[in-house]
Amino acid sequence: MPLSRLTFAIALGVIAAAGAAAAPDWPSVPAKNVTLLYPGQSSLEWAMSKGEHRGAEKFNGGKSCAACHIGEEAPVGAIVALGRKLEPSPIPGKPGSIVAKVQVARDAQRLYVRLEFSDAGQPDARMTLAPAKVAIMLGGDEPVVARAGCWAMCHDDSEGMAKAHGARPMYLGKTRRGGGGVEYWEVELGSGAPAAANGTVSDARRKTKPVAVTAEAVHRNGVWTVILSRPLNAGAVTLVSGKRYIIAFAIDVGHTAKRFHYVSFERSLVLGQGTADFVAK
Ligand code: HEC
Repeated sequence: MPLSRLTFAIALGVIAAAGAAAAPDWPSVPAKNVTLLYPGQSSLEWAMSKGEHRGAEKFNGGKSCAACHIGEEAPVGAIVALGRKLEPSPIPGKPGSIVAKVQVARDAQRLYVRLEFSDAGQPDARMTLAPAKVAIMLGGDEPVVARAGCWAMCHDDSEGMAKAHGARPMYLGKTRRGGGGVEYWEVELGSGAPAAANGTVSDARRKTKPVAVTAEAVHRNGVWTVILSRPLNAGAVTLVSGKRYIIAFAIDVGHTAKRFHYVSFERSLVLGQGTADFVAK
């Protein structure tokens, strides 16, 4: 190889190494356990309905789901997964909740979210070929999202829900839109390379093209480790330092699909400095 070409190749190698070196040093990133519960057919309308949900009045008055329920995911999820409430077709043996170890980090270019969870004890629901799937929602300025997280998008007439007619996916109700919608990231896990997608939810759910989110995943000793990331400037939600965002997680495991997933109550996220459940330094 002529010397100039060799120097160029070395320079490229250095650039590639620098890019790789900027990826988060995960052992030094603080981790938090997030419990996700099995939600059954609990929808936004259900949560707002006084006759059905004991938290409805205060929720309608402005209190968030997380403010009442963080710490109760396991007992609440167990009641629903068993089919005692909100679940007309329980999956036999389905655990009511799952714990994910979550870390959030950033570098100059990207935001990264790493989740670790075990699939131990999950029955095979045979709804889909993919053994697991992870989804993340990111909200900016939608007030209902700040109070209800994923439930802001989950309605009685969404697919598989109590008043479903057809395959309507999640959406934000008309009277509740005002801040540019919600962004989602998702990745289906299996034996091949993980296939990531991202998009937005407002009056409807729309996939973004080209896909901005990338994903890596490994499954070892019954534990999934999944890292999702996207460029800071390539999503529907503009990510800037110091601003507070809402983040929430959904996990399908045991070959489930659609509403048969686990969902977390909403958490806060700040990039840079600030006070939040997750601070991406
Ligand atoms: C003011 C506190 C409060 C708020 C806010 C609140 N809840 Fe509840 N929620 C309750 C109480 C109380 C119960 C009944 C628990 C029990 O009986 O042990 C309950 C029960 C539930 C249950 C279990 C089903 C049942 O009827 O026992 C689910 C699921 C649930 N809430 C989801 C939500 C969601 C989703 C939100 C936000 C959209 C929310 N809650 C907001 C207080 C609250």
